[in-house]
This record gives sequence, C-alpha cells and structure tokens, in this order.
Amino acid sequence: MLPSEIEKRLNEQVARESASSALYLSMASWCESHSLDGCAAFLYRQSDEERTHMLKLMKYINDAGGHALVPAVPQPKTHFSGVREVFEDVLASESSITQSIHELVDLCTRLKDYTTLHFLQWYVTEQHEEEKLSRTILDKLNILGTESPGLYLFDKEITSLKVDTQIGASPEA
Ligand code: FEO
Repeated sequence: MLPSEIEKRLNEQVARESASSALYLSMASWCESHSLDGCAAFLYRQSDEERTHMLKLMKYINDAGGHALVPAVPQPKTHFSGVREVFEDVLASESSITQSIHELVDLCTRLKDYTTLHFLQWYVTEQHEEEKLSRTILDKLNILGTESPGLYLFDKEITSLKVDTQIGASPEA
C-alpha cells in the first residue's frame, strides 16, 4: 500500500509533468508561429513525452492502491523573446523537475518505500538525459547563433536530437 505522504507527492509530480507538457506545447506553438518548424516538431514531441511521464505516474499510483488525480493545468508562458529564451526555459524547467524527482527519492528512502523508490529510478535516468539534451541544444545554439543562416541550420539539426535513455551509452558511430 502506498504511504499517503508518498501518494500526495506523486500526485504533485503528476501535476508537474502535466504543466511541463503544457509548457512544451506552448513553446512548440510559439516556434511554429515564427516558422521555426524544426524546433516546433522537437517541442511537440517533447510535450507528448511529458504526457507519457504523467500517465506512467498515474498508472503507478492507481496500481499501488492510491488514487491518481488529474490536475488543473495552469496556462504556461506563451511569449518568448527568441529561440534562446525558449531553450533556456527548457533547461530551467527540466532542472526543476529533476530536483522534484530527487526530493521524492529522498522521501521514499526516509519512509522505506522501496517499491516506489525502484519505480522512480526510471525518472532519475530520464531527467539526467533530458538535462543533458537541453545543455547540448544550448551549446549548439551558441555555436550556430540565433541569426540567419545559423538559426536555419539549428532549426534543421534539432529534429534529429532526442533523449538517449541509456546513461553512459556510447555515441553512435
Ligand atoms: Fe518528465 Fe522532463 O520531466
């Protein structure tokens, strides 16, 4: 049985993943409206991924005897000064989610809920990879720049980037 304190925190995490999905969706829409189609495709995909993170948590809560609650979704930020601000916000958002997952891991350790602790390992790995990807994207943006033609190349290149969930995996040859 899920300890009630952990159920409450898991439901808060459901809300965070839902808000993250909405933020990515808003970023995708902003990029699409500025003809950054590659960035938009990447961000739409990330929005879908965040929704799957939310659903995975909900299923776990219900399977463990709790009740997963569908959260209200606050309106995310809708305007950005440019593509750099979009991806700086991505990194800030992912760092905040990592912090939240780590706090959940701490709580499970304290309450000796080893089943949830094990379940959360997937999220620990995922967050490590999402933060790494966010930093890689900002590095590429710094190299290519936010003006034409670098921005055009960045917008093309970003479509090939995705989360690699194998920590320490060798780069593809
Ligand atoms: Fe599911 Fe990237 O937080």
